[in-house]
Amino acid sequence: MKKILLINGPNLNLLGVREPETYGHETLADVETHMTKSAQKSNVQMEFFQSNHEGELIDRLHEARGKVAAVIFNPGGYTHTSVALRDAVSAIAPTPVIEVHLSNVYARPDAFRHHSLLAPVCVGQISGFGTQGYLLALEAALEFDQP
Ligand code: DQA
Repeated sequence: MKKILLINGPNLNLLGVREPETYGHETLADVETHMTKSAQKSNVQMEFFQSNHEGELIDRLHEARGKVAAVIFNPGGYTHTSVALRDAVSAIAPTPVIEVHLSNVYARPDAFRHHSLLAPVCVGQISGFGTQGYLLALEAALEFDQP
C-alpha cells in the first residue's frame, strides 16, 4: 500500500494550545485523525512523526528515503535556520518533500519568517491555510508513486 509520511517539527506538538490566534485550535492529534481518514479513502497509509529535535528530524527523513511515496513536512522554526534539514531533504532525493506551514509565513510581521531554507529543495510549499494545508498537501502527495 502507498505510504505517505507526515513530519512535524519543533513546537508543533503544542498545536491547538500554542498561539491559537496564529495556528488555530485543532490539535496535532486532530490533524492526524483527519489525515488518516482522508488517506484511507485513497487507499494510502499515513505515518506520523513529530520531534522538537533537529537530529531526530534528520534521522526520520533518512529513514523515509525510498520507503514512502512522499513526505509532508512542517519544519516549524527550523524552516528559517536549518542548513542541516535542507541538506537532509536533498539527501533523500528522489523522495519528494512537500513543505507545509499553518500560517502564511510571508504575511507574518517577523521578517525572518519570510525566507525558507528548505523551500528550494522541496517539490512545493503550502502556507497559510491552517490545518487544512496538511490535507491539501496530502492531495498533492497522492500524485507521487510509491518507490
Ligand atoms: C510554522 C511557521 C514558522 O515560522 C514557525 O516557527 C512555526 C510554525 C507554521 O506552521 O506556520 O513553528 O511552520
